[in-house]
Amino acid sequence: MDKVTILDLKKMKDEGDKISVLTAYDYPTARILDECGVEVILVGDSVGNVVTGRINTLPVTIEEMIYHTQAVSRAVKNALVIIDMPFMSYQTSIEEARKNAGRMIKESGAEAVKLEGGVNMEETIKAITDIDIPVMAHIGLTPQSIHRMGGYQIQGKEDKQKEKLLKDAQAVERAGAFSVVLEVIPKNLAKEITKILGIPTIGIGAGIHCDGQVLVIHDLLGMSGEFRPKFVKKYINLEELISKAVKEYITEVKDIKFPGNKHSFH
Ligand code: KIV
Repeated sequence: MDKVTILDLKKMKDEGDKISVLTAYDYPTARILDECGVEVILVGDSVGNVVTGRINTLPVTIEEMIYHTQAVSRAVKNALVIIDMPFMSYQTSIEEARKNAGRMIKESGAEAVKLEGGVNMEETIKAITDIDIPVMAHIGLTPQSIHRMGGYQIQGKEDKQKEKLLKDAQAVERAGAFSVVLEVIPKNLAKEITKILGIPTIGIGAGIHCDGQVLVIHDLLGMSGEFRPKFVKKYINLEELISKAVKEYITEVKDIKFPGNKHSFH
C-alpha cells in the first residue's frame, strides 16, 4: 500500500469506500494500526484525557502534540497522519494559527492539521490551506468548547442548532478543508451533511451514513475505565487482559517462578 493522501480520501468518498480513522499517541500503537491498514491516524488532543489523565483537552500544549506526533510519525509507513491543533494555538489570530500550523507540520512529521470550529473558523482554515497545509475541520460536539456547551451532550437536535451545523459544514468546505469530523450529532443530520458536501465526513457518534468513522483507540481497546459513551464500541477488553498478565507476573515474582531457566543466561 502507498502512503495515503488527502486525494485518496476524496476518491474513497466519490467511490463509496468507507474511510477508517483511529487515534494514536505513541510509536507501538501507531505501528500496529498502520500495519492493520487504517487509512488515517489522528494524533488527537484527546491525548490530554486519554494518556495524561486530564479532565478535558484544554491544557494540552503545542509541544505535547508535537512530541506525541513525532513518535507516531516514526512508526507510520502508509496512513495519513493528522495532528490536532490544541486549544489557543489557532483561536487568537489568523497569523498565530498559520504560524502554529506551520510549526506543527514542520516539527511533527504529520501531513495535515485538524482544528475545531465551523463558520467562526472559516477565515482561519482558508489562511492555513492557502499555505498548502491540509486542514481537517471538526464540528458538532467540539471538546475545546466544553465550557460554552456546558457538557459533552449531543449537538444539532433542535432546528436552530441543525441550521447552524449545516452552515458550519458548508463554511469549512468553502474554506478549503479536505475533510470534516462530525462529532455526536443525530445520524440523519450527518447523512444530510455527508450528502451536500464534496469532502469526506468522518463521524464519531454521528451514525452510519458518514464517509468514514473515527474512534479513540483506548475506547476501542477497552482501556478507558468507566468512560463509556453510547457511540463507543469496545472491541476488546484490554484492561482485563493487561490486569490478568500483570497479576500473573506479580505472583510469579513473589513465588520465585520468574525468571525461570528459559529467561536466564547460562
Ligand atoms: O482529539 C480527538 O481524538 C478527536 C477525535 C475524537 C475526533 O478530536
